[in-house]
Amino acid sequence: MGAVAVASEGADIPCLRTQGTATQLVVDGKPFLILGGELGNSSASDLAYMEPIWPKLVKMNLNTVLAPVYWDRIEPEEGAFDFTLVDGLIEGARAHGLRLVLLWFGSWKNSMSCYAPLWVKTDQRRFPRAQSKQDKGLEILSPFREESRNADARAFTALMRHVRQVDGQEHTVIMVQVENEIGMIPDARDHSDAADARFAQPVPRELMDYLQQRRDALMPEFQERWEAAGARSSGGWQEVFGPGLETEEVFMAWHFARYVEHVAKAGKAEYALPMFVNAALIRPNYKPGQYPSGGPLPHLMDVWRAGAPSIDFLSPDIYFPNFAEWCDKYHRSGNPLFIPEAGRGSEGAVNVFYAMGQHDAMGFCPFSIESTEDPANEPLARSYDLLAQLTPLILESQGKGLMAGVLLDKDNPTREIDLGDYTLKVSHDYTWGWSGGQGAERWPQAGGMIISTGPDEYTIAGSGIIVTFAPNAPTDPIAGIGNIQEGRFVDGRWVGGRWMNGDQSHQGRHLRIGAGDFGIQHVRLYRYR
Ligand code: DGJ
Repeated sequence: MGAVAVASEGADIPCLRTQGTATQLVVDGKPFLILGGELGNSSASDLAYMEPIWPKLVKMNLNTVLAPVYWDRIEPEEGAFDFTLVDGLIEGARAHGLRLVLLWFGSWKNSMSCYAPLWVKTDQRRFPRAQSKQDKGLEILSPFREESRNADARAFTALMRHVRQVDGQEHTVIMVQVENEIGMIPDARDHSDAADARFAQPVPRELMDYLQQRRDALMPEFQERWEAAGARSSGGWQEVFGPGLETEEVFMAWHFARYVEHVAKAGKAEYALPMFVNAALIRPNYKPGQYPSGGPLPHLMDVWRAGAPSIDFLSPDIYFPNFAEWCDKYHRSGNPLFIPEAGRGSEGAVNVFYAMGQHDAMGFCPFSIESTEDPANEPLARSYDLLAQLTPLILESQGKGLMAGVLLDKDNPTREIDLGDYTLKVSHDYTWGWSGGQGAERWPQAGGMIISTGPDEYTIAGSGIIVTFAPNAPTDPIAGIGNIQEGRFVDGRWVGGRWMNGDQSHQGRHLRIGAGDFGIQHVRLYRYR
């Protein structure tokens, strides 16, 4: 055991609750919005290496850091646990006013089993590997063997027990990710003997029951697959879901989910923090096995939900440019949007406004967050400064249809949004002749969030956007801009700055936050004929 004092568990352990259509993370009895970042894989394996990182995270205005816990480091010998690194992370986070989301690098990390302890890696008889179609052993633990699953669950249980003992009062640790980017490669399924035997068995009753009970509420793409194969209520995998790699993927998803369920359930029995799994997404035209097959992907959401009910939600790691599309795919059917990994840089700094405004995101976390020499001037630091100010208003507005988000680029320069009593036309800053950007070859990603704060009022935050306002009904009087003020929120209260009625709003024609600027503005509208 490390240096963090042991405390008994307090009331109000972090949990999830719903507000309207949104799911919120509740910490110490209050909703909490994660302005996060995930550490590069190896940083948390050396506490001395972490020392200069902590202040960087503070300078970037993070409130939460996502950090791995490595199975091989906490259980170097079977049954002998060492939580020095975990304690160091908790201490470091506390000393810098940060919360922690722990990432359990257990049986799988990006498909591979690279963080399994050496005593697991070297005992192939007890902990068998998945096999490729060509009968080659892979550096991937087969999910079909109880011995591996039980060993992982024992370690995870010990971790959760320890976190409860040292943090059950303070709640520095607020959520846990179970495993990391699970999925089978390079084939769509494991071809070990145990896997072949299971593939020859009927689809388990629990999955069939789930499909039938939720027939009308299944993800449309999954429902389609099942119905195309005849919507059977029992049968072998290929009978129920049709032949093909896609069915092998469903089979893997089920067995990965069952394994994860065993691990997560055992951990929750010790300390029931919210738990989630994350997915590596699919490149266009890739097939299962080319991308990690069977991971917690949108088209497999039902399989994961049925197989792993102890997992509270599924999360995307979004590195692709079609950020909005992946947000849509994950924020469905009650699955809240939490983005544990995303690209860094100026695009991430804008994407976060979209995720929070459009999808009531619970949190956003660029990956390798510590990789910066100038943390205070990172674009993300500017976004997080604004979002930290806006947090009380965002949390109050979640789930009530009061917010929208927008992302714009050269190919999608304008979007219309109906919100409250107005239609807002949001355009990329470079669409406006006076912005000076029109001829530019590259347009920076622009975007923001709009919050309806009263019948004729909006609070708008973001970067590179121009907003005009029209009444919702065409017969209504014209919408005029009464006034626009930039400002800040201090302790949740608006502290206004400059009034922007002249050039800054093109003499009252629009609201503008120029490209490269990050800001919050409040607009009051009126009607005239
Ligand atoms: C996604 C993984 O989940 C991370 O741990 C890391 O490997 C990144 N990819 C690297 O881009």
